[in-house]
Amino acid sequence: MGLPESFLNKFARLLPNQEFHYFKKALNTRPRLKAFRNHPLKDGSKTKGQPPFQSSIPWSGQGFFSETVSVGAGNIAHDSGVFYSQDASAQAVVGLFEREIAEKALEKGRTKQFLVLDACSSPGGKSTQLLDAIRKASRSVLVVADHDKGSRKKALGENIERWGYPNAIVVQSSLQNLAAQRSWANQFDVVLLDAPCSLESVLRRGQAVSWSDKRVEQAARVQGVLLESAYKLLAPQGLLLYSTCTFSPEENEAVVSEFVHNREDMELQDAAGKLKLTLRESGIECKEALENTKGKAEWAQGGDGRLELCARLWPTFLDELVGPTDGHFIAAMKSVVDDDCPAYSCPAPASFSEPTKAEVKVLRTFLDVSLSPAENLALQLYMRSCTLLCRRGHLYLAPFSADEGFPVDFSNVNITSMGMYLGHAGSCFVPSRWLLYSMDVISPLGAAAVDCEGLELKRESEIGRPRVSWWSENGARVIRTAQLDGIRSYWRVDNSYLLRGLPLVSGKPPRAKSRGKIRT
Ligand SMILES: C[S@@+](CC[C@H](N)C(=O)[O-])C[C@H]1O[C@@H](n2cnc3c(N)ncnc32)[C@H](O)[C@@H]1O
Repeated sequence: MGLPESFLNKFARLLPNQEFHYFKKALNTRPRLKAFRNHPLKDGSKTKGQPPFQSSIPWSGQGFFSETVSVGAGNIAHDSGVFYSQDASAQAVVGLFEREIAEKALEKGRTKQFLVLDACSSPGGKSTQLLDAIRKASRSVLVVADHDKGSRKKALGENIERWGYPNAIVVQSSLQNLAAQRSWANQFDVVLLDAPCSLESVLRRGQAVSWSDKRVEQAARVQGVLLESAYKLLAPQGLLLYSTCTFSPEENEAVVSEFVHNREDMELQDAAGKLKLTLRESGIECKEALENTKGKAEWAQGGDGRLELCARLWPTFLDELVGPTDGHFIAAMKSVVDDDCPAYSCPAPASFSEPTKAEVKVLRTFLDVSLSPAENLALQLYMRSCTLLCRRGHLYLAPFSADEGFPVDFSNVNITSMGMYLGHAGSCFVPSRWLLYSMDVISPLGAAAVDCEGLELKRESEIGRPRVSWWSENGARVIRTAQLDGIRSYWRVDNSYLLRGLPLVSGKPPRAKSRGKIRT
């Protein structure tokens, strides 16, 4: 598919001649290299399916380019949450602020909850990055929200699950609905609004994007509304990140200009400066590239000079110097309000109840049988700061302690997963994939409360010691191994690995004749 004529005409008017020439050339060239991000707590280097690292992405600690990123069923490394396929420029939104977010989370997490909201999150790329950023702060929680009810909702759930962190709550809600909840106002220390946009940057992928001036105008109107909603949720001193993967000024500088105009409690942060510094540190000296990290103040009405603090990632410059990117716009704004916001202690949502003794027992039995002692201990420690909840037999680990209560009221919000989904407790316990994947991350999290080193060492020492512990419903024997194809832990059914949550059952094996063979 060629680029729309009216789109080209627009940017021919906006950009200097030569820049437009390179911009058009970049968009007409399909990227050869693709980008991905590694899970920081999993060693993908020996994993089957792990894309070879061609070069790293300067603004993303775990980001790389590779010729062969294949995602979806069939790539064991992807499906086990070892890497996430994500455009390089998309990684900059959180990547540039990752250290700052991590430090804030650690500092506040010492005494209070650190709450982060990813407001338009499907399919969850930036959510997984936010979870990485806050992973060391034990009292940090990410609320992952999107209004989508269809395939994106499914993809979001799966991506969060396979990334394995237990401190994520997935909700299906419009941002406007969240902003209308009284107890949610001014509660979030970080709000990310990766806004729906006219998708100009993905035109280069050859995808069918129907572009028109009208669509740009419509998107800009929605973005303005969403930014106001995001602002309502931001805590004093909080960080508000606004991003799009489109180039049009109407959806970028103009939206931000309108938002910061006369709003003295919000200060634009120097995202462009951060990007420039990052490029410099990676050895890039090209003046045009370094200068073009800035937002285009002159493209917004009134030409507010502060808009130059916004960051622009243009494929025009970055393709050659760093690697192929779609392109992104990023504005970071900080609340300069000093007051403390009211702290709530809300009850668990009514759709959840306390699990029965029998449900708890079946869970405990399962954990005792199928987790290593070190993992079990780490999970039990982590559970101390959580509330175990049940919805129609399904158990969840809400990342808030019963004593402190929930910091926001979830009653009027459609909850997909109230914290980590553990599995179904019936006559036996059927574990979730989330529980499985959490084993690679929960040990450091749980251990943070006590003796981190001791637990880590114990876990490491168990690598390579497979444990046969339970059986799948169809009778195939299941082996839980700590080291297979370089992945530290996943459930395996015979020679294939568990991809789509095949139900597993602990307890006695069914009749022997249906059992499969195990190759270890
Ligand atoms: C650019 S995409 C987000 C991509 C995502 N942040 C990532 O990194 O994977 C924008 C998302 O906004 C969602 N969205 C659009 N309008 C919304 C609204 N009013 N409230 C919540 N989500 C919305 C769409 O469903 C879409 O998934």
